Amino acid sequence: MGNYSIEVVEKRLFASTVADEIVASIQDVLSVQNQCSLVLSGGKTPGSIYRVLSRPPCVSEIDWPRVHIFWGDERWVATDAPQSNYRLAHETLLRFIEKHNPNVHPVNTALGSPEEGAAEYAQEIIQYSEASGKDGPGLDIVLLGLGTDGHTASLFPGVNHNSEEGALSAAVIDEQRNLKRVTLLPNLLFSAGRIIMIVSGDAKADIVRRVLEEQDSTQDLPAKQVLEAPGKVTLFLDSAAASKLEKRP
Ligand code: 6PG
Repeated sequence: MGNYSIEVVEKRLFASTVADEIVASIQDVLSVQNQCSLVLSGGKTPGSIYRVLSRPPCVSEIDWPRVHIFWGDERWVATDAPQSNYRLAHETLLRFIEKHNPNVHPVNTALGSPEEGAAEYAQEIIQYSEASGKDGPGLDIVLLGLGTDGHTASLFPGVNHNSEEGALSAAVIDEQRNLKRVTLLPNLLFSAGRIIMIVSGDAKADIVRRVLEEQDSTQDLPAKQVLEAPGKVTLFLDSAAASKLEKRP
């Protein structure tokens, strides 16, 4: 098991607490590196956190021109479609920080297929890693959500993505589950120096208990891989999401 910690936070303090941790993590990275990659998660949960990042004091505590924003996964839709993870970030964060010149690297969902999108995104990450002087493809800070079925990013239970050895990203296609996405893969996501999993709401209480207290495999619960990640891992849970844990952190 990796060296993870769990923070249970009251709902009313959740967004600001997580936003403060993201700011501190970026500052830590930039104190030893010239650039910092911040990988955003999708879904609905992070919107309130991105909004806090877009406002004072957080917005002026981040050296945005040295931050490179990526996505852990993206739905294969136009960037202005309601389901788009890019759109969520644009509505809650990016449109407010444009003047600060962050480096934004969206998945190119205008390409012909999720396979092409995944291949191009892997190259984007390789180019960023080389330009920022890393030894190999690597990311600094990864934000992750948790689905009620135990998925994270677009790593879903029982959904195989055709990816060769060492691939950084993949298309996730599953007609039955109406999935057409691009996701970063575990070897890239879970090797980040800093991983922040963000889970809130009653609906997540059961899956939080399963991930933290049951013996399911990482095949059955891909999100469990975060517990084995070698970096600094923190699971931020609001009180509702933590409400079914036997062992209260
Ligand atoms: C996505 C996300 C996904 C998300 C979880 C939680 O594109 O859907 O990346 O992994 O984080 O499904 O989503 P909610 O925050 O909406 O519950």
